[in-house]
Amino acid sequence: MPRLVSHPDEVKIVTSRFGKGAADIDRFLELGGYESTRKALAEGPEWIINEMKASGLRGRGGAGFPTGLKWSFVPKVSAKPKYVLVNGDESEPGTCKDHLIFLHDPHAVIEGTIIAGLAIGAKTGFIYLRGEYRYLIQIVEKAVADAYAKGFLGKNIFGSDTEFQIIVQTGAGAYEVGEESALMESLEGKRGIPRIKPPFPAVVGLYGGPTVINNAETIASVPHILAMGGPAYAAVGSERNGGTRLFGISGHVNNPGIYELPMGYNLKKMIYEVAGGIRGGRTLKAVVPGGSSTPVLLPHEIETLGMDFDQVGKAGSMLGSGGVVVLDDTVCMVEFALRTISFYQHESCGWCIPCREGTDWLKKSLTRFHAGFGTMKDIDNIQYLAENMMGRTFCPLGDAAAMPTLGFVKKFRKEFEDHLDGKPCPHAKHLDVALV
Ligand SMILES: Cc1cc2nc3c(=O)[nH]c(=O)nc-3n(C[C@H](O)[C@H](O)[C@H](O)COP(=O)(O)O)c2cc1C
Repeated sequence: MPRLVSHPDEVKIVTSRFGKGAADIDRFLELGGYESTRKALAEGPEWIINEMKASGLRGRGGAGFPTGLKWSFVPKVSAKPKYVLVNGDESEPGTCKDHLIFLHDPHAVIEGTIIAGLAIGAKTGFIYLRGEYRYLIQIVEKAVADAYAKGFLGKNIFGSDTEFQIIVQTGAGAYEVGEESALMESLEGKRGIPRIKPPFPAVVGLYGGPTVINNAETIASVPHILAMGGPAYAAVGSERNGGTRLFGISGHVNNPGIYELPMGYNLKKMIYEVAGGIRGGRTLKAVVPGGSSTPVLLPHEIETLGMDFDQVGKAGSMLGSGGVVVLDDTVCMVEFALRTISFYQHESCGWCIPCREGTDWLKKSLTRFHAGFGTMKDIDNIQYLAENMMGRTFCPLGDAAAMPTLGFVKKFRKEFEDHLDGKPCPHAKHLDVALV
């Protein structure tokens, strides 16, 4: 069971009910739960979408797309049923925030799903949970059953003439089905491979109907936004990046964990103050700021870096899933690059050739390299391969593999050169990065 951490700089919005027994529906109601749904039912779709737009909430799944805008793209009238999908696949290495929401506050996800349904005129929502989250499935299914028993879900929710049903579905343990179109394929009972876009899910999604798909943290933020008001939520964060974010700080820090901090919070402070600094008094070598697919940053790049989508983008990386992986000076970056690409090679669904072959070649090259059998030309080959995967696949998994690889080669070229011509790894005996 993950331990709950805390720091005075945290602004607890999504985590405000953690550790308070809110998985129990009566306790959740005592803590103000389902009030936002009642308000949303009374106020209607336009009000909900306006509040969401005013909140500045951007998708917590990785891409940072504005949530209110996404919801507004769904056609008001549709011959086909509309759907809300909650993405709880959470498989990006370094990322383990959504599972805490399902564990401590599953009704927040249910409430957010109902509100999203009211906003777009959907009658059905799906909560799609990562297959490995076995112990969470019972918790979420019980919460859904309790919501039905109270009349919050079903034909006439909260005594109104509005219908909303929720179905809980689990994956079978594939990173790829976290990608929204592959998730829809999986839900429809097919092989989890991505769809060509456009059309986008807001127009043609699940079973061909207009569909909103959001990350679990995005959805769990929704009831809080309606409770506090969109502008108040926006004011917590930074410019164009409303509210807070669950940052998962892992790796070589003294106090790893999930911390809820305002968007725009300084990364250096996050590592040294919130997470207690580098373990054993060692030196910081590099930081992966937003899950394994985001390009690595060097210590000097984080000095004044605010953790929001725009600032991290400007620094040449991405905020991604908010999984901050901290590496100290014992880490061999060639081995770290190999570990990273091994994940993507294993998880590539094999549908697009540049991703299927590219991740495999990169893994083989890096394996040879790390064993000391690389040549100077291999460094350029790795770079060439990764560059040629970028933007050439149906879904961004290919980019997710190529981007960090390019970052490792660019920023740690000397370290790659130190491995050439049969030399053993001069940097580390092994990689010891504990992901929380
Ligand atoms: C390979 C891959 C895996 C992904 N995995 C997840 C995931 O586990 N959870 C998630 O919310 N988004 C994931 N995404 C992003 C989703 O495609 C989508 O952008 C997101 O669910 C939208 O929700 P948001 O707007 O609330 O962020 C993944 C994307 C890719 C390309």
